[in-house]
Amino acid sequence: MTLAGKHIIVTAGPTHEPIDPVRVIANRSSGKQGFAIAQAAAEAGAKVTLIAGPVWLETPPGVHRIDVETALEMAAATEAALPADCAILVAAVADWRVDPATAKLKKADGPPDLHFIANPDILVGLGQSPRRPRLLIGFAAETDNVIANAVAKRTAKGADWIVANDVGSGVMGGDRNRVALISGDGVEDWPEASKDEVARRLLERIAAALG
Ligand code: C5P
Repeated sequence: MTLAGKHIIVTAGPTHEPIDPVRVIANRSSGKQGFAIAQAAAEAGAKVTLIAGPVWLETPPGVHRIDVETALEMAAATEAALPADCAILVAAVADWRVDPATAKLKKADGPPDLHFIANPDILVGLGQSPRRPRLLIGFAAETDNVIANAVAKRTAKGADWIVANDVGSGVMGGDRNRVALISGDGVEDWPEASKDEVARRLLERIAAALG
């Protein structure tokens, strides 16, 4: 398998949405699956741009890493990294942000009344872009109705493939994953494996699809 000459964008990790200069809204994504995918893509010979939210993982060898904090920064960095042959959006992007206070909110003032604003959906944006990567892959982390939700998400978001994973059972932060690959051809259940093995298997499929 070779991906020489191909450019692959990977987003990974959570985003942090600031509430004030010291507080953020975060999620439990560790970034491990996204980093494993970036590593497998680089090992297969691709030029890899990894756009990472706040995680404490080493950059895989040969991978160009761009660190971001918020969903807006991740969206801008992803757009700036185009064109690409393939984008794999593994990041757990925060769905909402708040308008952050410029000074630290004081506990004595009582619980803040947070007003949420929807973040842009990077996957949907890429799907509609004139520079849409030829192969656009999203992830769907679900705790219930995993497959049905992921199948619906593939069409709703304009992705070619969705990798569905059940995050109800210690997947987030762990080293193993059990996923299903959802494409226009149907649903393929993959056996439970390490995140590295899932990454290599996905990259084999990507190499075959990109020819
Ligand atoms: O709708 P949901 O968040 O479950 O969709 C998950 C997929 O969409 C993932 O591939 C994720 O990286 C991507 N996504 C995104 N931008 C968002 C929200 C999700 O790219 N704001």
